[in-house]
Amino acid sequence: MTQDTFTINYPAISVGTEKTDIIFYTSEETPNIHSILIPAGQQGRILVTDTTVIGLPVMQPVAKAFGVDATVEAGSCYRNGAHTLLVLGPGESHKTIENILTIIRTALDSGLQRSSTFVGIGGGVICDMTAFAASIFKRGARLELVPTTLLAMVDAAVGGKTGCDFESYKNMIGTFYPAARLHMFSEFLQTLPASEYRSGLAETLKTALLYAPKLFSILQNQKEQVLEREPELVRQIIRRCVIAKASIVEKDLTETGLRMQLNLGHTFAHALETCAGLGALPHGDAVAWGIGRALQLSLNVGLCDQEYRDDVEAVLEQYGWCKDPYHPVLEGKISPQDAGCLLLSAMKKDKKNSSSSVRFILQREINSTVIQEVDEDTVLKVLEA
Ligand code: GLY
Repeated sequence: MTQDTFTINYPAISVGTEKTDIIFYTSEETPNIHSILIPAGQQGRILVTDTTVIGLPVMQPVAKAFGVDATVEAGSCYRNGAHTLLVLGPGESHKTIENILTIIRTALDSGLQRSSTFVGIGGGVICDMTAFAASIFKRGARLELVPTTLLAMVDAAVGGKTGCDFESYKNMIGTFYPAARLHMFSEFLQTLPASEYRSGLAETLKTALLYAPKLFSILQNQKEQVLEREPELVRQIIRRCVIAKASIVEKDLTETGLRMQLNLGHTFAHALETCAGLGALPHGDAVAWGIGRALQLSLNVGLCDQEYRDDVEAVLEQYGWCKDPYHPVLEGKISPQDAGCLLLSAMKKDKKNSSSSVRFILQREINSTVIQEVDEDTVLKVLEA
């Protein structure tokens, strides 16, 4: 039977979403951050950041230009000519639909147009929220992002995912909306708390295992320099992650297949975060533990060999991440005997999974990844201490 069909073809969505220019700045260029983010002669822009980021040394030229003092409160708004700076509260608890509406209301009050630019300056939360607000403001305004954490530089700000949390669901509302420009000031990493830096390193490890063997050997062999944040090495790490992720999102922006690989370790990580309580451990620490579990599962189902699993475990150990089935964040909350069942049940609640099996990103070896359903009993074996 022939069907009467008609296809409408579309160009890229909205202004500036057809490509992303990524600009890596040197430390000499960093003090010019204000004129880079608000170039002279441009129409009004809205800059969105949070109360932590606005106090960082790199941000002082921006804070000074807007007259922000040390006692800035969440929700404060500052003007500099046609430009507006909105400062939100920091962290996951502020990733709300109410704050998306605050960004949009502020942009409207500032007289911004569809051709105006939204600039998100912060970690994953601020980048995701500013991008989401830009994507729905008058059906799509121009977007630039300035990721200020390692996690945002190597992952969250790259590739157009936007959104906010809703009720207890992480990133439940959102869009795909790539930024026209990403500004990489690696100087931000010099003042990043050690736990947040390590959290970003876990996403770096994920990218290395998926696509970048050279990056894996940097993590294996140059631990001291990596942890000391040696500037040239850090720039190289970010660049390698961005190039690897670019090659995936260029082929599958909206995650219909290939992009799912970027969730290596995340099925386990999200279950751990749910069981431990959101925010009980940095996201990257949960991802690192999840990578260890995914590799153990890959070994148990006969995909990878022991040597590869051991190499990955050695890196987890080197950087102080948990490589055991029972994560210490659960201590005092869930016993080792109950943890397996509860983690599995959290995985099954994920809407992507059916009742008797859960889908995992697994590996044969570095740079060789498969997406596979695994039965409950086999999964339980890698969760039981
Ligand atoms: N963070 C995973 C992705 O961007 O698809």
